[in-house]
Amino acid sequence: MTLSKKLKELNKRHKAAELGGGKERIEREHKKGKLTARERIDLLLDDGSFVELDKFVVHRCRDFGMEKNKIPGDGVVTGYGTIEGRIVYIFAQDFTVFGGSLSEAYAKKICKVMDLAIRNGAPMIGLNDSGGARIQEGVVSLAGYAEIFLRNTLASGVIPQISAVMGPCAGGAVYSPALTDFIFMVQDTSYMFITGPDVIETVTHEKVTKEELGGARTHSTKTGIAHFTAEDEEKCLLMIKELLEFLPQNNMEDPPILPANDAPERMHEKLQTLIPGNPNKPYDIKELIETVVDNNHFFEVQANHAQNIVVGFARLNGRSIGIVANQPAVLAGTLDISASLKGARFVRFCDAFNIPIITFEDVPGFLPGVDQEYGGIIKHGAKLLYAFCEATVPKITVVTRKAYGGAYCVMSSKQIRGDINYAFPTSELAVMGSEGAVQILYRREIDSAPDPEKFKKEKVAEFREKFANPYIAAELGYIDEVIEPKMTRLRLIQALEMLQNKRDSNPPKKHGNIPL
Ligand code: HXC
Repeated sequence: MTLSKKLKELNKRHKAAELGGGKERIEREHKKGKLTARERIDLLLDDGSFVELDKFVVHRCRDFGMEKNKIPGDGVVTGYGTIEGRIVYIFAQDFTVFGGSLSEAYAKKICKVMDLAIRNGAPMIGLNDSGGARIQEGVVSLAGYAEIFLRNTLASGVIPQISAVMGPCAGGAVYSPALTDFIFMVQDTSYMFITGPDVIETVTHEKVTKEELGGARTHSTKTGIAHFTAEDEEKCLLMIKELLEFLPQNNMEDPPILPANDAPERMHEKLQTLIPGNPNKPYDIKELIETVVDNNHFFEVQANHAQNIVVGFARLNGRSIGIVANQPAVLAGTLDISASLKGARFVRFCDAFNIPIITFEDVPGFLPGVDQEYGGIIKHGAKLLYAFCEATVPKITVVTRKAYGGAYCVMSSKQIRGDINYAFPTSELAVMGSEGAVQILYRREIDSAPDPEKFKKEKVAEFREKFANPYIAAELGYIDEVIEPKMTRLRLIQALEMLQNKRDSNPPKKHGNIPL
């Protein structure tokens, strides 16, 4: 064969692989509002940077006539490229080829890029769109999933792992995204569940649609499984790029410092009056966050789930930070099961990837209730406590108002290695709120007082005067400085810069035993 014929042959093979399941199936996907695997990769990576691996791999199945039906690439596009010049590894499942279902060969392709990503210390991005295990391959396909799950677990805390669900993701297949750090979903075209509507109806007689059961809305609000949702695929891919800007390539690196164009000493008078004098009045903690961070840009994670705690990324003088903040505008900022889980997972991510944690605290305590107790608030609240305790990244806390009870300890207090702890003059560091305290301390006196209401009011005022302030904690050194709210940005930046070379570690161990 002449060289030109050989090149023609190569070209033909490339074209066949690039066509995936064929024009008709591609059009079907487009009609649903979905892009193909290759179109997604093109949008996500820097122009021309994608290098594909295993493009000609085919499956090895000989049952059900599959030996006559082979498509190069076998339903998943894998390789590496760059985003804003930084290397990432990627796989994109191709629904047009056997419904994106996973075969032995397909799993091996994914494992190969995962191994490269782990060995070379760069993020792994998985774009999921698949009918699950390839039915014709049986247990061989299940083994392929297990190989991937193992790698997801080994890569956890070593490289950032990002999953986007851009179509179906059902059955055990959900566990690969579930083991990764962040899950993105696309509204109306993606869904995730362990058992689908039909099986559920047969077993429990519950009727539910695919969208209700596992659509983006469900997972971004009820379950919190989706960290981000996007209106369409293009927006989803842009959000992935934005997330990566805050992250280091791996656990041995610090996150990138971007050139800052927002003055560190910028002060805001409006912060002076943001916190209401009345401790029962809500305010929006996001207003404080957005005012303080660079260019007022806060990249919120799980924005619609457990809104009584707010978590997300931002920058301070160009440095990447993770923010954890109680939200007094929702459930008075109390910590419940969902908020504890949301906060704990975020804190652990930041700690694993060297991202300093800024905590804004205004929390009256854990949410009271039988449901909460039966649901295990003890062990779930302990996860948040554990996460803050074990974190060795720089930890800076600002108490804006209430730091009551156990929640004082949990929210990055000095005693659990908070590096710098600030408090606003409006803050109250106490075992509980004044009314609750008086009710317990003076129950008998209140009952026997000639005017119980008046007596109670006086005692509450007395208690507030004495304990509802930051000064006892400041006298003890639990608070390093009581700051005017308008100083927040400057003080946070100064503290971050002071802590930039922080070294701290935990005792050697195989791994801790977080209360799961
Ligand atoms: C082989 C599959 C497939 C699969 C879909 N296809 N799923 N082929 N194995 N798992 C093929 C179809 O035969 C079809 O081929 C093409 O993909 C597109 O599928 P459609 O059904 O036409 O598409 P749509 O109507 O959009 O429905 C998508 C779907 C449905 C909801 C995903 O295909 C479906 O229910 N598939 C089976 C899902 C499932 O039960 N998977 C196993 C889950 S258990 P043609 O040639 O007609 O285009 C699992 C275990 C993992 O995954 C365990 C890990 C521990």
